[in-house]
Amino acid sequence: MSLTELRISNFRNIQTAQIALHPKLNIIEGLNGSGKTSFLEALYLLATGHSFRAREHQTLIHFEAAALTLFAQNTGGDRISLQKDNTGHTLAKINQEACLTRSQLAHLTPCQVFYQDIFAIIDAGPQVRRHMLDWGVFHVEHTYVTLWRDYRRTLKQRNALLKQQPTKTQLKPWNHALSELAHDIDKARVNFCNMWDEAWQEALSALGAVHCHMEYQRGWDKKNEYASLEACLDANYAR
Ligand SMILES: Nc1ncnc2c1ncn2[C@@H]1O[C@H](COP(=O)(O)OP(=O)(O)O)[C@@H](O)[C@H]1O
Ligand SMILES: [Mg+2]
Repeated sequence: MSLTELRISNFRNIQTAQIALHPKLNIIEGLNGSGKTSFLEALYLLATGHSFRAREHQTLIHFEAAALTLFAQNTGGDRISLQKDNTGHTLAKINQEACLTRSQLAHLTPCQVFYQDIFAIIDAGPQVRRHMLDWGVFHVEHTYVTLWRDYRRTLKQRNALLKQQPTKTQLKPWNHALSELAHDIDKARVNFCNMWDEAWQEALSALGAVHCHMEYQRGWDKKNEYASLEACLDANYAR
């Protein structure tokens, strides 16, 4: 889904702006300091609830104003708004109704920033790639967010149990639960990567004879020794 319109009020140096957006491509040009990055930052704030370049909300609000407001409309006709005031309070609404989770915003406004640290995808640790991958799966597979949250919760609880040096029998149900969730996550990631690769190959073929492949590898059991994560976790306990 793309945005068709963005209205900005008191965001950084932009006091008021109303911009009609093309659903496919928009090119923003302007003098240094005119607010190009601020415009992108406003879009990102609306999509995610936070900024990609500032931690403090005050810096986002125009220095003569008490609050900033963003409003957008997408191709599906949804109206999304976000207001942030200088006490730190944020109010986001979708079609006039309060929006309580960031994932609701993210669903309506899929947004990926290619910032100067984009090369981290290649040269930083696996968590950066995992984050990008999960962002993609989240937008394709709408049940993914629940699955991912359940996985994190189970992992946390299993880690807490591990600190108490459990017996194998005590640990077994947690290995089982974690493994079930991990396999579902893995399956969703594999599906997404296949779709991604298809689009990627199509984009590459438009560039000519460039051969470049992406491959997804799940994190556990690189040697393919185990039938499941559960078997792998059980075996690790024995060690
Ligand atoms: N809270 C704020 N209130 C008013 N102006 C701001 C605020 N924060 C930043 N600015 C100014 O807004 C301008 C916007 O910069 P930026 O968006 O980075 O421009 P560009 O990307 O076009 O070079 C800068 O000159 C900056 O000093
Ligand atoms: Mg800039």
